[in-house]
Amino acid sequence: MRTIKIGMFGLGVVGSSVVSILRKNQDIIRSRLGMGLKVSRAVVANPGKSRPIPTDDIAISSDPSTILDDPEIEIVVELIGGVDAAGTVVLGALNAGKPVVTANKALLAERAREIFSKVYETDLSIGMEASVAGGIPVLRSLKEGLSGDHIVEISGIVNGTCNYILSRMSAEGAPFEEALAEAQRLGFAEADPAFDVDGYDAAHKLAVLVNLAYGTMVEFKDIHVEGIRAITPADIGYARQQGYAIKLLAIAKLDDGEVEARVHPCLVALDHMLASVNGVFNAVFLTGDNVDATMSYGRGAGGEPTGSAVVSDIIDIARNIKAGIRSKIPPLSVVAESLRDLKVMEMGRIQTEYYLRFQVLDRVGVLAQITRVMGQNNISIQSMVQPARSDHPDQPVQVIILTHRAREADEMKSLEEIAPLDFIAGETQLIRIARFTG
Ligand SMILES: NC(=O)c1ccc[n+]([C@@H]2O[C@H](COP(=O)([O-])OP(=O)(O)OC[C@H]3O[C@@H](n4cnc5c(N)ncnc54)[C@H](OP(=O)(O)O)[C@@H]3O)[C@@H](O)[C@H]2O)c1
Repeated sequence: MRTIKIGMFGLGVVGSSVVSILRKNQDIIRSRLGMGLKVSRAVVANPGKSRPIPTDDIAISSDPSTILDDPEIEIVVELIGGVDAAGTVVLGALNAGKPVVTANKALLAERAREIFSKVYETDLSIGMEASVAGGIPVLRSLKEGLSGDHIVEISGIVNGTCNYILSRMSAEGAPFEEALAEAQRLGFAEADPAFDVDGYDAAHKLAVLVNLAYGTMVEFKDIHVEGIRAITPADIGYARQQGYAIKLLAIAKLDDGEVEARVHPCLVALDHMLASVNGVFNAVFLTGDNVDATMSYGRGAGGEPTGSAVVSDIIDIARNIKAGIRSKIPPLSVVAESLRDLKVMEMGRIQTEYYLRFQVLDRVGVLAQITRVMGQNNISIQSMVQPARSDHPDQPVQVIILTHRAREADEMKSLEEIAPLDFIAGETQLIRIARFTG
């Protein structure tokens, strides 16, 4: 039986797992593929470093040309991370006529135009299932399972670190810093957690989802990104009293020829499936015009779940090689002539419902003034709650307002007008409320 040789860049958490899955599951892979798969070369930063897996049968080097210039290597796997060196590897492999598998959402999001233009130009395959939601085959659902549908909406919990922190805050009433420290202790958050908790990791994944769902290459910098640092246990408690959980969502939808693409915390109704996705788990809620609502759930990170997705891409590409074709499915779901140049909608133009928490001095007429300003800005109020009176006139109280659907620009203008009023005693919290199609 023929064996396809793979060149692997990176033997870290994911790279080592890919090697071990290919070894452990070689029988089932052979039976499904009719060929064998073997990592014969690897390129790493420190070739002398000890590895968690046996590497006697892998030629390890720090020189990319050992893989890129080896005619026997038929598939290149990039698992080094970052955007610079990884970009050189991916473009180098494609230029050398080799198909690529990558888990690198940062590269695919930030250098989308460069990478995908090259993939279309060469007609080679790029496997990127592991770049979004780890082991959950969500990109394959988009590209294959839903290829007959218009994608109406995507809402995903795609960052396990944030979901773990929000779940702990919700279960224990812990403040953000405490829940983050616990996540770090358990290995669910990096020592420098900024990339995750400030929403950028989720935004990278959203860019990949948007590009695939709508056959486009959006500018990553146009995606609105907010993280979870400003969420307090009080907000989680008030939201729950109103029937909502707070989740960091990555949201995409087509709207009037533009694409809404935004990452921010959201109130999600407690009876929606996404509200019960807790801990480090990820879930992607996808609505197609025919299929209606679907949801995929699973582990969004970790060596083995991510490695599982990488291996599935390798098998896919090996099937192309076996069939004597370069690729079967266009990299961004659509053929080159059908790629669209979609713009990301400015945040001011989106429309949604809002949760607002005002901190005000407990005086007569305060609520009337807030609602007057909001009314003047076309914001209509769904409900208003003042959970407690203050014991002292100088002690602020919280006022929770849920609005009906409004334009973001109008909402922001009303908050700007309310901020200087003399009864406002602290920063106003704004969290958007998610409503789902399907
Ligand atoms: N970890 C996850 O759960 C997860 C989930 C989804 C996606 N991903 C993505 O998967 C990719 C790999 O992540 P990881 O967690 O496996 O990373 P990692 O554990 O830090 O491993 C990185 C590997 O790349 C090698 N490397 C770093 N810079 C290099 C360079 N310039 N040239 C050659 N090799 C280099 C390192 O070599 P040395 O070992 O010699 O230092 C190491 O083997 C990233 O794009 C990440 O975003 C990871």
